[in-house]
Amino acid sequence: MAIPSNALHPTNTPAIEAYLAELAGESTDPLLARMEAHAASTGFPTIGRASGRWLAQLTRIAGGRRVFEIGSGYGYSAWFFAQAVGPEGEVIGSDDNPAHLQRHRDLWEGHPLASRVDLRLGRGRAVLASTSGAFDLVLIDSTKAEYEADFEAALDRLRPGGLVLVDNVLWGGRVTVPSADPTTIAIQHFNTRLFADTRIDVCVLPVGDGLAVARKI
Ligand SMILES: C[S@@+](CC[C@H](N)C(=O)[O-])C[C@H]1O[C@@H](n2cnc3c(N)ncnc32)[C@H](O)[C@@H]1O
Repeated sequence: MAIPSNALHPTNTPAIEAYLAELAGESTDPLLARMEAHAASTGFPTIGRASGRWLAQLTRIAGGRRVFEIGSGYGYSAWFFAQAVGPEGEVIGSDDNPAHLQRHRDLWEGHPLASRVDLRLGRGRAVLASTSGAFDLVLIDSTKAEYEADFEAALDRLRPGGLVLVDNVLWGGRVTVPSADPTTIAIQHFNTRLFADTRIDVCVLPVGDGLAVARKI
C-alpha cells in the first residue's frame, strides 16, 4: 500500500500549528481574547482558533446565512459563524448547561455581533426541534455518545448543499487503534457510518481535534 503523503509530512504538528497561528495574527476583537482566556483558566474545551477559522471560511464558501449549533458553550464557535453569516444572518445555538449560557451573556453583553447570536438552554435536538425552517450549516460539538442521533436530526433540517460540521472526530488520535473506551468506540462507529452514508459527501479536515465536513447531496 502506498504511504499517504501526509503521513510522511504531518501537517498538524505543534510547530506548524504555531506557525499558522502566527500567520493569522491576533484578532482585533477583545471578546475572542476574553473567551480564550476563560477557556485557558477553566480548561473549557472550545473548538479552538484554527478550527474556528474553518467554521467561518466554510460558512462563507457555502453562502451560509442560517447556522445551528448543538453544543455552544459560551459562544466561542458561534463567534466565528457570526463573523461569516453577514448582517442578515443568524446563529441559533444550544447548550444544556445554564452556567455556560450565563457566561455567554456576561461575556457578549453589548458586543456588535450579539444580535446575530441566539443561544438557547436545552439539549441540542430538542432546541433544534423547537425552531422552524432549514439551516445552511449545523455544527455538532456535543456529547460524543449522541453524535449519531444529533447527525440524523441535523441532516433532516439542512438544506440540500448545506454542511454538517462535526468536531472531535479524530479524538486526539485515539480513533486509530482498537479501544475499550466507550467514547472512543462511539466516535469510531460514528465515523464509520458517516463515511458509508450515501446521503452526503464527506471529508475530515485534520485541524484541531478533527473536523468532519459533510455536504448534504
Ligand atoms: C466541547 S464544548 C464546545 C462548545 C463550543 N462549540 C465551543 O467551541 O466553545 C461542548 C458543549 O456542549 C454542551 N453539550 C453537550 N452535550 C449537549 C447536548 N446534547 N445538547 C446541548 N449541549 C450539549 C456542553 O455543556 C458544553 O458546553
